[in-house]
Amino acid sequence: MSKNLNNFWYVCEFSSVITNKPKQIIMFNQRFVLYRNPEGQVVALKDQCPHRGAALSLGWIDDGCIRCPYHGWKYQADGRCIEIPANAPGTPIPPKARIESYPVQEKYGFVWIFYGDRNLPETERPPLPSNLPEYLFSTMRAAPHLDLDHANYIRLMETNLDFSHVIAVHRKTFGQRIPLNSTVRYPVEEYESSAVAEFTYESLSKSKSLLNFLLGGRPQVSLRLSFFLPNFTLAEISVGGDTRFPIKFAVLAGYCPIDEYTTAVKRILFRNILPFPWLDKVFTQLDAKLAWEDTMVIESLDPQTLPDMSEELHVAADALGIALRKLQQKYLAKGWVLESSDNKLDNSNRHLAQPSASLVN
Ligand code: FES
Ligand SMILES: [Fe+2]
Repeated sequence: MSKNLNNFWYVCEFSSVITNKPKQIIMFNQRFVLYRNPEGQVVALKDQCPHRGAALSLGWIDDGCIRCPYHGWKYQADGRCIEIPANAPGTPIPPKARIESYPVQEKYGFVWIFYGDRNLPETERPPLPSNLPEYLFSTMRAAPHLDLDHANYIRLMETNLDFSHVIAVHRKTFGQRIPLNSTVRYPVEEYESSAVAEFTYESLSKSKSLLNFLLGGRPQVSLRLSFFLPNFTLAEISVGGDTRFPIKFAVLAGYCPIDEYTTAVKRILFRNILPFPWLDKVFTQLDAKLAWEDTMVIESLDPQTLPDMSEELHVAADALGIALRKLQQKYLAKGWVLESSDNKLDNSNRHLAQPSASLVN
């Protein structure tokens, strides 16, 4: 069992999915319920009523509070129970009738939950990603989509930071145009809880693809890959950077760990071409197909959870993935280790959290 980070903001859902109806989210086998109050703010509570343990996500929202589906107890956004319908009016509410609540933020189209020590001063909490490039939001068409993968979230994250897998994992699709023996070397810029690197595949072999035809000759492909602990990445892809009108794609991805071996990957695909909403599905299906090429291989990794660095081999091309592991280690060494539920927590009702195609798009 690998160790996971405590005291971080975890991406857990698309903002657009959270409405005034309760929504169950499972992270590390823990149930959470999220909803939007009448002021539009997202509320996050533990999804377990202290009375008999019912999933509040099966309940309903009443005046900005949530009612339990079993006996209708009413809880405020801060988790305090303010009404027990079966009690005579004026009966005191037991002080223990309280649910754990979690700090929430929304940014870049995602909802983030602070998972950790509530007493840690806000200034000491690693911040959400900031300064993502403006052009993503001002000039690109964005389309969200969701994949459910039977793989560890860090392993999935790492493949999105990997410049040298393209020629193997994606050899039947866009990797075709990159020579097998491309040497991959690049500097990594490291920050407090994130890092970024860029690499350009200079020498592309000829291909008869329509894209090459449109761009003329041999388009350059550049990748700029960033990660933000604990579970967020940005990939920026530029095709034909040596031409006047490069085609640009970008993917923001949240790797939401349902458990150590199951991850809901929530992706927003950005594109600077054909910005018509009716084409969103075509592009997200293409992105899902390429992501599936990664997933098929990542699901085969043994072990799934990250072993010690010394138990695997590392080469220069792995530098960005190594930066991820080292930064993670830095915080784990500080004692910021998430209490492990050991995958034994009650998982009844977890079907509610299974992604469905209707959740997005
Ligand atoms: S179990 Fe929630 S009110 Fe009884
Ligand atoms: Fe990939």
